Amino acid sequence: MIELIDVHKSFGEQHVLRGMSFTLEQGQTLVVLGRSGTGKSVTLKHVVGLLQPDSGQVIVNGVDVASADAEGLREIRRQVAYLFQTGALVNWLSVRDNVALPLVERRDMPSEEIRERVDESLGSLDMLQHADKMPANISGGMRKRAALARVLVQEPDAILYDEPTAGLDPIMGRTVGRLIQEVQSSGERAAIVVTHDMDLAFQVGTEIALHYEGQLVERAPPEVFEQSSHPVIREFLRTRERPGKASP
Ligand SMILES: Nc1ncnc2c1ncn2[C@@H]1O[C@H](COP(=O)(O)OP(=O)(O)OP(=O)(O)O)[C@@H](O)[C@H]1O
Ligand SMILES: [Mg+2]
Repeated sequence: MIELIDVHKSFGEQHVLRGMSFTLEQGQTLVVLGRSGTGKSVTLKHVVGLLQPDSGQVIVNGVDVASADAEGLREIRRQVAYLFQTGALVNWLSVRDNVALPLVERRDMPSEEIRERVDESLGSLDMLQHADKMPANISGGMRKRAALARVLVQEPDAILYDEPTAGLDPIMGRTVGRLIQEVQSSGERAAIVVTHDMDLAFQVGTEIALHYEGQLVERAPPEVFEQSSHPVIREFLRTRERPGKASP
């Protein structure tokens, strides 16, 4: 349902994506690892049309993102939800109204049903008791959970998670991991999870890949990826094996 074909993207002198190609099907959860600044967020932004490739193609559900008009882009963003690295809540709306926003914007859902779905989504993230607070008055981790609730409430075909556990305490990180697993368990959704969190990578990934020199390399199921001899992958794997950080 998502396909990148030989995508190149430069910012000035900096050649960030260098022939990026991959496909993602329903039911797959692709974890993307990579050093900071390699272009992981840039890749996700191409999928939802926030950035355009210099060359190559991005196809979502059969539609070339570059050729989509405003309505086409809206449709793509309905199908593919993007959980921003920074959360990106609207400051002047309460948590509850933030989560409701994508449903309200659709204009075709009765307010009763919106309320129900929003509360269910907030409840699943243990955020119901903070629903009436403003984003400025909750912690960073809570903002992250509110942003995740806003993504889940849209029931999209695919979800792009950019660092979903960054800034969360380890317990909440595990909860978010379980939630991603639960969202994926229907087998009907696709997901890309960009993360530096190796526990999360192995918890949710049906496949793991490394973002390296502008491409995805060494893509494989977790048990195969673990055996890779790629030096950067070995480095990432060591952060998982570090004593004292063992899983409970
Ligand atoms: N709109 C932009 N204009 C200019 N340069 C950009 C733009 N967006 C990203 N870049 C540059 O592209 C490179 C890749 O950025 P990106 O945000 O994708 O990194 P990342 O892999 O997500 O890193 P991190 O793990 O730190 O989030 C960076 O050097 C960044 O400065
Ligand atoms: Mg990033």
